[in-house]
Amino acid sequence: MQCEPSGFEILRASLAFRILGETVYRDYAYRLPINGDEAVLDFGCGLGAVAYYAAGRLQGGFLTCVDASARWIEACRRTLRHRTDVTYLQDVRALPAASFGLIYCHLALHRIPDEDLAGVIPELSRLLRPKGLFAFREPLRRAKEAIVVQRLAVESGLVRADSRITDAPLVGSTIESIYARPL
Ligand SMILES: C[S@@+](CC[C@H](N)C(=O)[O-])C[C@H]1O[C@@H](n2cnc3c(N)ncnc32)[C@H](O)[C@@H]1O
Repeated sequence: MQCEPSGFEILRASLAFRILGETVYRDYAYRLPINGDEAVLDFGCGLGAVAYYAAGRLQGGFLTCVDASARWIEACRRTLRHRTDVTYLQDVRALPAASFGLIYCHLALHRIPDEDLAGVIPELSRLLRPKGLFAFREPLRRAKEAIVVQRLAVESGLVRADSRITDAPLVGSTIESIYARPL
């Protein structure tokens, strides 16, 4: 069962967004391989700190924000209240296959137990269009979990396109990887 955040956790995320918005979140959103006209999914959106900047890069495309927690979805709606073109979901399983050109997960997958990840990653892979991209960023100190995600991505038929170490203020070093769905 999904654990709902406390009011304190939401406040802490809001403060992080205000303080680190233009470094941690905007920098990642600007590095994402977004063309602007595609369908993009933010999985584990939380407060919507990355989504806030990613949505600004979508001209003809549209953004779907997913979080298992109803309270985080509510908080994300508030962060993106200036946008009318964003869809919010708690579960991706009803979405049709090959719906998205890009799926990204920011500092979210290491929170998901391995046994659940084994279902989540193939599900995200199913949602990618041919040539679609799956991008994720995890703290380097959680490299073990990131390696599990990388293995599951390959087992789900995705091919590694890029992987690098980046630094983020307060978060520290992170692993950023991109996997592609072949044609
Ligand atoms: C550490 S927060 C990251 C939030 C946001 N991406 C960011 O960078 O600020 C992790 C988020 O993943 C969500 N989450 C955890 N397990 C999930 C699942 N199985 N499906 C969807 N969201 C999940 C949590 O509710 C939480 O909002």
